[in-house]
Amino acid sequence: MSTFKPVRGMRDFLPEEAKIMKYVESQARKTAELYGYKEIITPVVESYELVAAKSGEEVRLRMYAFEDLSGRKVALRPEFTASVARLVATTLRNEPKPLRLFCVGSLYRYDEPQKGRFREFWQSNFELMGSNKPEADAEILLLTNRLMKSVGLRNYKFKIGHVGVLRSILSKEGLTEENQNQVMQRMDKKLYDEALKMVRDAGASEKGIQTIRELVNLRGEDPPKVLENISETVKDYTEAVEAVKNLGEILSLVAKTGEKLGIVIDAGFARGLEYYTGMIFEVYVPELDIALAGGGRYNKLVELFGGEPTPAVGVAHGIDRIMLALQEQRVEIGIKEKQPVMVIPVSESLNAEALRIAETLRMENIPVELEVMGRKVSKALEDADRRGINYVIIIGEKELKEDAVVLRNMQKKEQTTIKIRELATILKPSQAS
Ligand code: HAM
Repeated sequence: MSTFKPVRGMRDFLPEEAKIMKYVESQARKTAELYGYKEIITPVVESYELVAAKSGEEVRLRMYAFEDLSGRKVALRPEFTASVARLVATTLRNEPKPLRLFCVGSLYRYDEPQKGRFREFWQSNFELMGSNKPEADAEILLLTNRLMKSVGLRNYKFKIGHVGVLRSILSKEGLTEENQNQVMQRMDKKLYDEALKMVRDAGASEKGIQTIRELVNLRGEDPPKVLENISETVKDYTEAVEAVKNLGEILSLVAKTGEKLGIVIDAGFARGLEYYTGMIFEVYVPELDIALAGGGRYNKLVELFGGEPTPAVGVAHGIDRIMLALQEQRVEIGIKEKQPVMVIPVSESLNAEALRIAETLRMENIPVELEVMGRKVSKALEDADRRGINYVIIIGEKELKEDAVVLRNMQKKEQTTIKIRELATILKPSQAS
């Protein structure tokens, strides 16, 4: 017996799991349609330089990176945003803005495998390119809320922050971008003491250090109140005050829609990816301590890739983690599937007839499973019973002479002789499961 297994961190999706994944994906597609996002398909293999550019240390060090046979340094994509920004900087450069782009597919990161953390995972990803307005940020929050709601999740919360608050203070305190990135990485991992030490070592003033220390402890569920507290804490840093104001505008737009989003504002919140310039957020459910989605505003990436200055905001939803959350919350998923009909020839000499009748039914959109194991009718019926098949068509010599077959209702254990041309009409109403 072979002992081959999937590579560590990689998984097989058997039919039941694949069905749920495709369901979440279909809800993401529906969301894309509802908000006007057009789907694009980008390659899994990208140039290393592109995906490494602003991915942050955490992702950069965990990339599946290698040289291809002609010595090009490439990587399996760890996220979609760099690929979409590449397109907007090049092929889509002259497209009128805004551009709303949607992708779905697999990503690769050499993360330590654990519950909800895999080396191959799936995202649905939305990018809104060309607008620097708070309504664009609000749209990304609202469409994320719509997706979470549409799959049936409950009690999810948005953790929201603004990188402009911390970055503008660090900048005013004289930290280089590289130093700021280092500090933000520590903040992302909640290593606040280390982060503060770095700020101190980089020569920040006592006031700067104190302001950041206060910020990392500022969080709460009442946005206007928390934002006011943050604003008061950063009052001597003009740009930080502006960032808080921007976040206030975004959240006030969201609130005015009447959608009740559970929101936790977190002033010390940072994300691992380095391209963010504005609002950032993640989505959590109480049952899991890992984010189901993450996103934010990044106004400099397209330009960095040689494109026109293009403000942008986006989000990626972790499909695997949404599936896990659905399981944790025991959400019933109503996936409608057509029940197949089984076609069984009574002898091998009728195989061609069975195949022909099966094709005729499929042309009428009736799913058919053909007996292909050469079993006796009784054995094939046993199998149909075990698999919960409702209707079986038995092809016999005698009935065929009359252009008919035997139709067996498996539940009622009744069978009747039916003309082949009437089969589709009789079977169609029985299709819904
Ligand atoms: P991210 O926070 O790195 O952001 O990933 C987004 C989501 O992908 C996470 O919240 C999580 O649900 C899922 N995810 C990430 N890593 C794993 C993993 N190892 N296993 C399972 N799920 C995982 C981004 O990727 C950004 N590109 C989001 C974005 C789009 N920002 C702006 N536009």
